[in-house]
Amino acid sequence: MAHAIVGLVRPVSKGDPKIRNKVYVGLANVRQVPQVKLIADQNRRHLGFLTSSELTGAAKRGTLLIATVDTEIIGFLNFWFRRDSIATIYTICVALDHQRTGVGRVLLGELARLARGAGMNTLRLKCPVDEGANSFYARMGFQCLQVIQGRRRRLNVWERLLQVPSKTSAPDDRL
Ligand SMILES: CC(C)(COP(=O)(O)OP(=O)(O)OC[C@H]1O[C@@H](n2cnc3c(N)ncnc32)[C@H](O)[C@@H]1OP(=O)(O)O)[C@@H](O)C(=O)NCCC(=O)NCCS
Repeated sequence: MAHAIVGLVRPVSKGDPKIRNKVYVGLANVRQVPQVKLIADQNRRHLGFLTSSELTGAAKRGTLLIATVDTEIIGFLNFWFRRDSIATIYTICVALDHQRTGVGRVLLGELARLARGAGMNTLRLKCPVDEGANSFYARMGFQCLQVIQGRRRRLNVWERLLQVPSKTSAPDDRL
């Protein structure tokens, strides 16, 4: 899949707050997995240990989205489209020095677009209850439907319905 500009993010360096960088999102290829793995390792305390073979498998299946500014990969999202029309997010992660610049929002927005196109009706993910990312999901319009016991930690189950755009509805700019 060709990478398309899907959004604008705030630059990392302090400067004019109105300036935005173009961010491109597309499916990763296997050669890009080492850069994705570096971002996962930076965030190991949030994600746990994500192996290169898991990421390579996702890249081969076409279920690993990456966000790129210039030639630098700055975030990724590992997903799966289920037969029951639920799009599951396994991992979403942004490079440490690009967090809180809008990259997570852009990755989710692109996943939502792809998911709608593939006939999905819901985005779903699980997140440990004590992670800061829970505030991100709430901000992105997800609802916490239940709390379940994971292998080691309690997990919030978050869902967001995917609206099918109609001619009369306003554009969905939340994601
Ligand atoms: C969680 C994560 C993916 C969010 O991506 P991001 O690029 O940092 O988030 P964005 O800049 O797109 O933020 C979008 C909105 O969510 C808010 N937000 C993001 N992270 C937040 C946090 N930890 N706490 C509160 N609000 C948060 C932002 O302030 C922003 O709000 P705004 O619309 O008012 O500006 C990213 O911070 C990350 O990779 N964290 C470490 C890994 C992780 O925890 N992954 C999830 C595992 S369950």
